[in-house]
Amino acid sequence: MAAGKGTRLKSKHPKVLHEIGGKPILAHVIATAQKVVRPQDVFVIVGYEAERVRDAVGRTEVNFVVQAEQRGTGHALMVARAALSGNNYDQVIVLSGDAPLITSETIKKLSDFHTAQKAAMTLLSADLDNPYGYGRVIRKGAAGRAEVQAIVEEKSATPQQKKIREINSGFYAFDAPALYEYIDRLSTANPHGEYYLTDMAAIFGRAHKKVVAIKTADAGEVLGSNTRAEMMMLDARIRLAKCRELLDAGVTIFYPHTCVIDSDVEVGADTVIEPFVQLLGHTKIGADCRIRSYSVIGNSVIGDRVTVKPGTIMEDSRVGAGAVLGPYTHMRPGSEVGEGAHLGNFVETKKMKLGKGSKANHLSYLGDADIGERVNIGAGTITCNYDGTSKHKTVIEDGVFVGSDSTLVAPIKLGRGAYIAAASCITEDVPEDALALGRARQTVKEGWARTKREAPKEEHR
Ligand code: UD1
Ligand code: CA
Repeated sequence: MAAGKGTRLKSKHPKVLHEIGGKPILAHVIATAQKVVRPQDVFVIVGYEAERVRDAVGRTEVNFVVQAEQRGTGHALMVARAALSGNNYDQVIVLSGDAPLITSETIKKLSDFHTAQKAAMTLLSADLDNPYGYGRVIRKGAAGRAEVQAIVEEKSATPQQKKIREINSGFYAFDAPALYEYIDRLSTANPHGEYYLTDMAAIFGRAHKKVVAIKTADAGEVLGSNTRAEMMMLDARIRLAKCRELLDAGVTIFYPHTCVIDSDVEVGADTVIEPFVQLLGHTKIGADCRIRSYSVIGNSVIGDRVTVKPGTIMEDSRVGAGAVLGPYTHMRPGSEVGEGAHLGNFVETKKMKLGKGSKANHLSYLGDADIGERVNIGAGTITCNYDGTSKHKTVIEDGVFVGSDSTLVAPIKLGRGAYIAAASCITEDVPEDALALGRARQTVKEGWARTKREAPKEEHR
């Protein structure tokens, strides 16, 4: 269920697209669902900004059902029934699209318990210290029995019921034919005027069908994200869990609570991550690397034994084994650094390929450039790639030496082994092994400075 707007967030964006652990809340739930059933058996109920939600999480084979008007969780299932009922399912598992910490193990337990109990409805419950806002589980008869009489929502609960700490998690397993048959009995006679899926417990009870609950061992798994504060707590949990997973896999992370590591990031063993590092999106880092403080690395692939010095920013880039980056290197999308290459202080790159063992150590802009192996790019070298209308390419072949403070006006090609004199402005292609000088000749005036110093001072007028 992911059709709601999420009014309590005071946001213009749909609730399920808010991010936790660096990806939409709903993406977590869909990924978990696909560990339990085949993607083609997952139905995502969307409604509020349905198209946006689909686009954001749609790169899978799951189905989407549109609940055009969001008239409650029960209504969501009424709408989904049409899509579900053609499939001969015997069980329907319902997941809340706003509770991203649920694990596939817990969903399987819920499903298996449901099957074993031969119930019409099984709900996953949890004991919370602060149950405020959740539906409360009213058990049938003595405590410790699995059977459930009803679920009461916060707004409808009596003061006595509000004291119940066992909450409805919003995850259920239903006997499919029973769900299809009885769901029309839901009504909107409640404080929200909505069709509550939770009312199915009492409806089945009245029809003498079995309703049971199974309690989670880890109550943290079922937490929902109805408010920004709840989201912040879920984000912290998911990231700390991610750090634990990496630590267990042999990665050292100093002060993990200062690092922002997204759920899908991969890091190899013996890599060391210093405080205040951000590893975002689908970033993949090899083994034996050191990622120093304040580096922000997004959607990039880094090989083994790479050193990333402090303050390096990288987006959609690739780095070969043994390379050294930073401090303060800025790699913009499409930058590719070869094995053992170096990019140093205040070097900005964009759509650039730097070959094996090449170096650009200081203060450069390298954009739309194809640079070969063993090239030395001197301090302050600039590729002039943009003429105000279009971008042009710079090609620098293997073994070229570019002297400091050179400007390379693209389109331009520096042939293999060429040598560019420092402070040159290069506007024409340079052949292989040639020396190119592109600078004004120096003039020296002997004694000029002394004469100026010793001349009588002019009066101020
Ligand atoms: C719901 C349960 C509550 C439970 C809690 C657990 C009901 C009536 N109450 O409350 O007992 O303790 O979850 O987190 O079900 N949605 C739709 N269509 C709609 C309405 C909601 O798809 O018309 C989706 C939402 O996008 C959301 C999920 O269903 O992902 C749950 O809805 P929400 O409004 O968050 O329910 P809660 O108030 O949290
Ligand atoms: Ca909720």
